[in-house]
Amino acid sequence: MALKVGFVGVGGIAHRHLEYASKRPDVAMVGYCDVALERARQCAATYGGNAYERFVDLYDQEQPDAIVICTPPFAHGDIEEEAARRGIHFFVEKPVAVNMATANRVAQVVAETGIITQVGYMFRTAEPIKKVRQLLSTRAVAMVQAHYYMPGLPPPTWWPKMELGGGQLVEQATHMLDLGRFLAGEVVSVSGRTARVRDWTPPAGYQPDGGMRKYADDFGIPDTTGLVMQYESGALGTLSCSLVPQKAWDVGFKVVADGLLVTIEGANARWTGDEEGEMNAGDDWPSYVLYEFFDAVKAGKKTDIPYAEGVRSLAISLAGYESVQRGGAPVSLAELIE
Ligand SMILES: NC(=O)c1ccc[n+]([C@@H]2O[C@H](COP(=O)([O-])OP(=O)(O)OC[C@H]3O[C@@H](n4cnc5c(N)ncnc54)[C@H](O)[C@@H]3O)[C@@H](O)[C@H]2O)c1
Repeated sequence: MALKVGFVGVGGIAHRHLEYASKRPDVAMVGYCDVALERARQCAATYGGNAYERFVDLYDQEQPDAIVICTPPFAHGDIEEEAARRGIHFFVEKPVAVNMATANRVAQVVAETGIITQVGYMFRTAEPIKKVRQLLSTRAVAMVQAHYYMPGLPPPTWWPKMELGGGQLVEQATHMLDLGRFLAGEVVSVSGRTARVRDWTPPAGYQPDGGMRKYADDFGIPDTTGLVMQYESGALGTLSCSLVPQKAWDVGFKVVADGLLVTIEGANARWTGDEEGEMNAGDDWPSYVLYEFFDAVKAGKKTDIPYAEGVRSLAISLAGYESVQRGGAPVSLAELIE
């Protein structure tokens, strides 16, 4: 029997998941919820099923087996908790929340109810990244050096507001912080510095063109951040990130391990040392993280990136910002995770 799937929050990224879900003959897309109801209606017209303004109505009317949550960072908590209490499994886009109180609360309900969850840390499911993890698993890792450079500010209006989007560390660079954990194990403490190096005030007549923005009213986040991570293994990590406008997205890693230097660019990897090789991700690699969730729900098995993983990765970002508040002093993750 087809898996009955609903969608909550159908703005930008949801369309990637909607398209991938529509390619699965074993998935029935039963309903869509968005506070902007017209967006949900458009999905219903394209993919079939019904549109809702309130997520509880979607849950109660359609009784989905699973939902895919793509709401903005600030709009998490009740959507997940109500799903879990009804036994509805969920896939949730990163970041799982903008604060630890919400993330810890949902984690508790997920643990109590035993539902299946997956967080959209899609890099983890790309084949080259899995290969690198296997290569590193037998070696001492020394340095995990990550960067996340964006060519400007993404279009959603919540993005430049700390309390809504969480800032670049929470909203985007979380991909790299999560991948650092996946490749090199748990982080025990984080030190951070942030900067605002340019004036984001829109000049007279500035009109965003729908792509990455150079200006925004009420820009309230750092535009440049540096972190130093202490890993449980003894390894060190750094993360450099910026959204100061320039031409290119540039996202990746260098990992130095005993006998091996790994370079990751996007989801592609190459390595040199006592083993030599390179691997590119397949064209449809961004679908894997969702497909693995559907497969896990169908099989009644746990996923590889359950909600608790999202909570731990969020904690690194928030520890970074907390360290900034403390003048760059290291913040222990044990302070944030329940
Ligand atoms: N994994 C990735 O590569 C990737 C890429 C882009 C975005 N994302 C993540 O996906 C999330 C959404 O990003 P986006 O760019 O699609 O944002 P968006 O603002 O374009 O879309 C969010 C949608 O959620 C709706 N919404 C807001 N509150 C809601 C609520 N309480 N109930 C129902 N609907 C609600 C909005 O009306 C909007 O349509 C973010 O957390 C972002 O980090 C992940």
